[in-house]
Amino acid sequence: MGTALTGGVEPSPGRTARAMQPSRNKVRFVLGSTPLEISLDDPCLTLLDYLRNQACLTGTKEGCAEGDCGACTVLIAELYDNSLKYTVANACILLLGMVDGKQVLTVEHLASDTLHPAQQAMIDHHGSQCGFCTPGFVMSIAALQLDEHHGDSIQTPGRDQIDQHLAGNLCRCTGYGPIIDAARQACTQPLPDYWPHQQTAVQSILGQWQKQDETLHVECESGLFAAPRTEAELATYLSDQHSPPTLLAGATDIGLWITKQGRQLTTLLYLGQISSLKTVNRREDELEIGAAVSLQRAAPELTRLSPDLGLLLRRFGARQVRSQGTIGGNIANGSPIGDLPPTLIALGATLRIGCANGQREIPLEDFFIDYGQQDLADNEYVASVVLPARPQPHFWCSKIAKRFDQDISAVLGAFSLTLVDGFVHNARFCFGGMATTPRRARRCEAAVEGRRLDEDTLAEAQNALLQDFDPIADLRASARYRRTVAANLLDKYFRFLNVTDVPSVYEFSSPQAFTHV
Ligand SMILES: Cc1cc2nc3c(=O)[nH]c(=O)nc-3n(C[C@H](O)[C@H](O)[C@H](O)COP(=O)(O)OP(=O)(O)OC[C@H]3O[C@@H](n4cnc5c(N)ncnc54)[C@H](O)[C@@H]3O)c2cc1C
Ligand code: FES
Ligand code: FES
Repeated sequence: MGTALTGGVEPSPGRTARAMQPSRNKVRFVLGSTPLEISLDDPCLTLLDYLRNQACLTGTKEGCAEGDCGACTVLIAELYDNSLKYTVANACILLLGMVDGKQVLTVEHLASDTLHPAQQAMIDHHGSQCGFCTPGFVMSIAALQLDEHHGDSIQTPGRDQIDQHLAGNLCRCTGYGPIIDAARQACTQPLPDYWPHQQTAVQSILGQWQKQDETLHVECESGLFAAPRTEAELATYLSDQHSPPTLLAGATDIGLWITKQGRQLTTLLYLGQISSLKTVNRREDELEIGAAVSLQRAAPELTRLSPDLGLLLRRFGARQVRSQGTIGGNIANGSPIGDLPPTLIALGATLRIGCANGQREIPLEDFFIDYGQQDLADNEYVASVVLPARPQPHFWCSKIAKRFDQDISAVLGAFSLTLVDGFVHNARFCFGGMATTPRRARRCEAAVEGRRLDEDTLAEAQNALLQDFDPIADLRASARYRRTVAANLLDKYFRFLNVTDVPSVYEFSSPQAFTHV
């Protein structure tokens, strides 16, 4: 079960001590500029259903109800270090309890006496036809405009930046050219006049709420939604429950269990209010990223380790998904096609796992036991992932998916090694999409260990890969495609290491051999 660490979580204070924590049974947030307290009848209520059915704000649309189309995009503001930080979110898969202590802005809140620059620009550039996608685009453009304003200075975003902000919004009739032009125009405009005043007011409300330091604990007929504020409190909740609760982080997976699978989750413990899980610690020899750190926030840290990791994160879902989805969720969901686990394993990551009795640490690769089976007891949670501050010099990763943006990998390869006098040392090759879990290619690693990176080594390593994996065929790719792609990624990696005399493309032909084509 891994190494026990000391001093992680305080010993469980038990049910009575938790009851002594100040708590609240209503969800409290600012909608536009109005502070609200809402009784929750269902812990699984989505923000979108609340907005449309209870608040009668029908500008926010439901397209796919699974985080793909962006028609439901809203802005969420959170108080960090006394200032508001805005992120975009898909309201269809965000749960209402998750916006406790935050501000929610919908398309209805943007215009005042005049239209918001994002709205006006969509009109000026004919960016809307049927209009179904338009509110979502307007919200994403408004978020981009906010990103581009630093005090009084305004930056004009480049095309890639616009694409990054709009990749999570789909339009079926207008075409993207006019919408991109609208985004460019909106970013050259000043923020609306009301903006500074509204920000100050909202900041003050959220600041007061933060000081009260109350735990949201809503028990209703259909279940419990709780948002513990410390790891100790979380550990107590976990030891208290008779049936295992569902740990909720960004809900970019869990939201779909509710909207697509119709699952009724009866006990939800939200991790997004625990500041220690949202912390990034840079130490001399290691980088520790809290489990509840969003993918968007982790991106600059991981890009510093490797630009390839930065590109991978740029291609992870879209902005809405990256802003809410977390590192811990991407690991703990145990998916064989999650993007981060293979890369983090190749980098030599370890996982810190917490519970009422403290913390233990395991190599990340040991966390994944089999499909849907992780080394995590019912009373435990993933606390953080720890990476070496200086990864091995030769790291590279690549995601193969049908689309550049907003797509899950068919195969992902991550490679890392050190060359000592031209000989391979400490090869760590890990693949996603090739087995029931993210898994190291041990035979392939052994085939290169202590060898020079030449054509013979590559051929042997590629054949060893065949022994390592027996991939499945599914809607994303056939088994044959996966084997071929994995071998070609290894080829590309060798090229990346400046080995030029290796054959370029391989076609998988029989279970035992590759033929050059
Ligand atoms: C449109 C869309 C695009 C996507 N694109 C990608 C993609 O490109 N690449 C990719 O890899 N994934 C993708 N995903 C999947 C998902 O976004 C990621 O897996 C994400 O990292 C999940 O994190 P979360 O915080 O939202 O997890 P949640 O949905 O909150 O939870 C997921 C699971 O992890 C558990 N969990 C969460 N945190 C912890 C913790 N700290 N300790 C223990 N258990 C925990 C939960 O109980 C649950 O079982 C996509 C999803 C959507 C909807
Ligand atoms: S409705 Fe499609 S992303 Fe929410
Ligand atoms: S205007 Fe019709 S979907 Fe975009």
